[in-house]
Amino acid sequence: MKKILITGLEEKIKKLKKERQAVILVHNYQLPEVQDIADYLGDSLELSRTAAKTEAKVVVFCGVHFMAETASILCPDKLVIVPDVNAGCPMANMITADDLRSLKEKHPGAAVVAYVNTSAEVKAESDICCTSTNAVKVVNSLKDKYKEIIFIPDKYLGDYVSKRTGKKLIIWNGYCPTHVKITAKDIISKKMFHPQAKVVVHPECTPEVIALADEVSSTSMMCKFVKESKAKEFIIATESGIIYRLKKENPDKEFYPASEASVCPNMKRTNQEKILWSLEELKEEVRVPDDIRQKALKPIQAMLGIV
Ligand code: 13P
Ligand code: SF4
Repeated sequence: MKKILITGLEEKIKKLKKERQAVILVHNYQLPEVQDIADYLGDSLELSRTAAKTEAKVVVFCGVHFMAETASILCPDKLVIVPDVNAGCPMANMITADDLRSLKEKHPGAAVVAYVNTSAEVKAESDICCTSTNAVKVVNSLKDKYKEIIFIPDKYLGDYVSKRTGKKLIIWNGYCPTHVKITAKDIISKKMFHPQAKVVVHPECTPEVIALADEVSSTSMMCKFVKESKAKEFIIATESGIIYRLKKENPDKEFYPASEASVCPNMKRTNQEKILWSLEELKEEVRVPDDIRQKALKPIQAMLGIV
């Protein structure tokens, strides 16, 4: 009975998507029922790139608010909609444009690297964006040109990038509430039960967790690592939604979440019913005011140009 209902919804979404000339972009942390109807499933960088080149008239963004905002900045001629307008990113809310302006006043001449997990207003005050895929490359591209580099808002990603590039950074005190729930103790105890398992860690985790990793990468790069690895077991230290994709793509491998607590409630707000509603009503639109959009576009394009 349940499957018939889900299939009915899927059929309706498929039909309406065609009529609206819409594309459904889905982040790797989304619920299985959302991943199953994705036109594109990926990490922040892949989804921004896909949004930038899509021919569709409507973009249904299933992720969190800053991701849809980035898509809207990249394609102002398209209608970007989100199935749940309350799906935000608490880390992105940890720095405001005023906060960043004050920090810049204290460090005149510093370059500002903004993780994409920031609002459009904050991006508008930044020099270049980065995602977890390319943060090291972005900082490497600047480190000899700038005496000082400000890195916002994630202190753990900032610390990881600083260690990898050898560049001391001025780092904002933000963090992801979901990734900090994963502790080194969690990894050590999972390793006791699965000694052969490779430890795969997102760079939003704490330095103590990163120190125990065999691989540190963005969500889609984790999928690539797992696919190419000869190992059969993996301890996954990131938001648990990715395990559905990993299992689907690697049915012969085993995955253990480092912590059952690492669930991002915002990433779980979207479901098939809400997607259907958003396609029916063409809501909720995410649009960035043009003056902010023009300024925020530059650091996003600078990032897309570098990598
Ligand atoms: P990725 O770019 O690795 O998918 O990360 C996005 C995110 O929000 C991680 O918490
Ligand atoms: Fe934001 Fe963390 Fe959720 Fe990613 S997992 S969207 S960084 S709160």
